[in-house]
This record gives sequence, C-alpha cells and structure tokens, in this order.
Amino acid sequence: MNPLFTPITLAGKVLKNRIVMPPMTRSRSTQPGDLANDLMATYYAQRASAGLIISEGTQISELGKGYAWTPGIYTQAQVIGWKKVTDAVHHKDGVIYAQLWHVGRVSHESNTGGKQPVSSSALQAEGVKVFIDDNNAPGFVQASLPRALSVDEIKAVVEQYRHAAQCAKEAGFDGIELHAANGYLINQFLDSKANNRSDEYGGSIVNRLRFLREVVAAVNTVFDSTAVGVRLAPLTTLNGAVDEHPEHTYVEAVRALNELKVGYVHIAEADWDDAPEMPLSFKQAIRDAFDGVLIYAGKYNLERADQALKQGWADMVGFGRPFVANPDLPARLAQGIALSEHNPDTLFGGAEQGYTDYPNAT
Ligand SMILES: Cc1cc2nc3c(=O)[nH]c(=O)nc-3n(C[C@H](O)[C@H](O)[C@H](O)COP(=O)(O)O)c2cc1C
Repeated sequence: MNPLFTPITLAGKVLKNRIVMPPMTRSRSTQPGDLANDLMATYYAQRASAGLIISEGTQISELGKGYAWTPGIYTQAQVIGWKKVTDAVHHKDGVIYAQLWHVGRVSHESNTGGKQPVSSSALQAEGVKVFIDDNNAPGFVQASLPRALSVDEIKAVVEQYRHAAQCAKEAGFDGIELHAANGYLINQFLDSKANNRSDEYGGSIVNRLRFLREVVAAVNTVFDSTAVGVRLAPLTTLNGAVDEHPEHTYVEAVRALNELKVGYVHIAEADWDDAPEMPLSFKQAIRDAFDGVLIYAGKYNLERADQALKQGWADMVGFGRPFVANPDLPARLAQGIALSEHNPDTLFGGAEQGYTDYPNAT
C-alpha cells in the first residue's frame, strides 16, 4: 500500500491522505476589491478530496500584491468572499489553509495602487516580469525598482501579517501558510543576494532570519502554532532571489521554525522548470532539524511520492499542476487512472473554462 493514502494528523485534525494541493495562483478574483467568489468556491470544493488544500497566494495588503486579479485577505469584503470558499470545502469534508502572500519587489506600480513596491533592499529583480491589467491592456512588464523598508515599516508589515491571519481565521480557514518561497518578500530577507541591509535585518544569518521569525511569532498569536505552515524554496532562483549558501541558510531557517513550533514546513523543490536537484543529504538535514510535518512539492508523481514517504524525509507530498485538470486526483492516483493534461492557456484569469470544467473520472 502506498503510504500516500494513509491518514496523518496536523494541528489536531486527521487528514484523510498525505496528498497536498499546493498553492496555485489562478487569478480569478472578483474586481474591484480582489475578492474570492462563488467560482473559486466551486473550484476548491471540487478538489476537497486532497488531504490538505493550500489556497493560492492571497495578498496581505495593497502593497503585497504582485499580479492582476489575485485575491486579498485584509478587508472585510475579502473575508466574506473567502468564507464562501472555506464553507464549500468543509462541506465536502476538506481541510484548507490560506497562503499569506506579500510579493515585495515582485510587483509594479499598476498592481499596488500607484505606490512604489517595497523590499528588504532597493535591489531590482532584474529580468523578472509581473502581470498587470493597466487600463484594460493586460500584459507582462518588468518588476519595478523597489525601495527598502524602514525598520518601523517592517514592524508595520509584521502587523499586516497578523491582521491577515486574523482575517483568515474569521474566514474559516483551518490554518495558514506563510509564503516565504519563490523570491517574494520574506525570501527577499532570507536570501543573501537579495538583502544588502546593514541593520539588524541584514548581513548575518541571524539577522536575515529576523523578519521570518517576527512574522511567525505574530501569526502564532492568532492561530495555534501547529496550524501555521511555512513554505520555503531553498534552491530555486525563481523571481531572482539567490542565496550564496542555501544549505546553511535553509537548515538554519528550519531550525528557527522548529523552535517556533510551526506545524509544517513546505519545501518547494522545483517550480515550473526551475528545478535544481536537491541532494538527499540536504533533505535529511532538514528532516533532522524539524519535528513537525514536512511537505515537498515539485514534479512529483506516484512513484516519487511513495519513495519520499518511505525514505522518511517527507510526510506529505504536493501535486500542483496535476490537480488543475484532475479534480479527483487522489482517487485517480489510488485507482491507477490516467491523468488528464491541463490547458496552459487558461491557468491565469478568465472564468469557468479551464478552471471548474475539468470533469471527474471517478
Ligand atoms: C498555475 C500555478 C500557480 C502557482 N502559484 C503559486 C502560488 O500562488 N504560491 C506558491 O507558493 N506556489 C505557486 N505555484 C507553485 C506550486 O505550488 C508548485 O510548487 C509547483 O507547481 C510545482 O509542483 P508541480 O510540479 O506538482 O506542479 C504555482 C504553480 C502553478 C502551476
């Protein structure tokens, strides 16, 4: 029996299998206001047979938004929108966490209400493009040059994370995941080449971890720490964030998260085709540093997931793109039913087509 289909307990809840639907931005929120809606509720409920669903990245503030049409989780109207989603998922016996997202420098004035994007440092993500919807002329543009956050502003962003966690709780989410991966704001503090600060938030590993620690401590006042997860991407260079010594940096990050008693660490091993091999010794070092649940995602299939669980460095496995066109993915995997391919043209934006119209096969 593949251990993928055995239950696991997370934050006191028994998850029915070890299959995770990892966060996937689909850019279908209602405008204006970046509101989750009935269509999104249908989409997530269709996929409620996953042991755990993590929502698409949802911005914690206006400045935290990087792409057109992504949902937010900081206004009362947004809470009401997400409540539709969590109710629909719970009705189907699913468990859903919200991925809290601040993109930092991976944005453009068009997506931030005309304000200059912010980061740990005034360093541009060169060659990184973001999607905007300027005067109804959607398209990709170079991410803006950010300005560095002051220490007071950092404290204010930490408070925005706490507020967003509170909104997630009011919206009925079972927990939250902090997006500290893929080159976004927290990652812009962690990675040595994205952070050139000379104060207590830059330089040494202790300093580069300070923002992450403060954000986790803040959201831990809202949710029990075991219902808080953190997503890290140690080796990807996605969105231009690069660390000179990723093994050292990320094992230290995981140690810090272990001290803060977070429920899970979610490693984005590969994203799209940005897929450097993560050595087994690195995975083992992460296992040794963490007592909670470890999730891995990035081009997994049944065989690789089976191996990861049996070797013990993963407790759950994310299947991203396979969930797009296979809403009943767990049953298909269990029964050996061939998987459908998704249409890449309908991933971002639009309506039902390529979103809620993929049929079940079981
Ligand atoms: C359409 C799409 C949107 C994504 N959006 C997010 C996101 O909002 N947050 C995040 O952490 N990762 C995001 N990812 C990365 C996925 O969570 C996952 O790590 C990646 O797709 C690799 O897994 P896979 O090979 O099983 O698809 C996205 C991936 C895809 C395909």
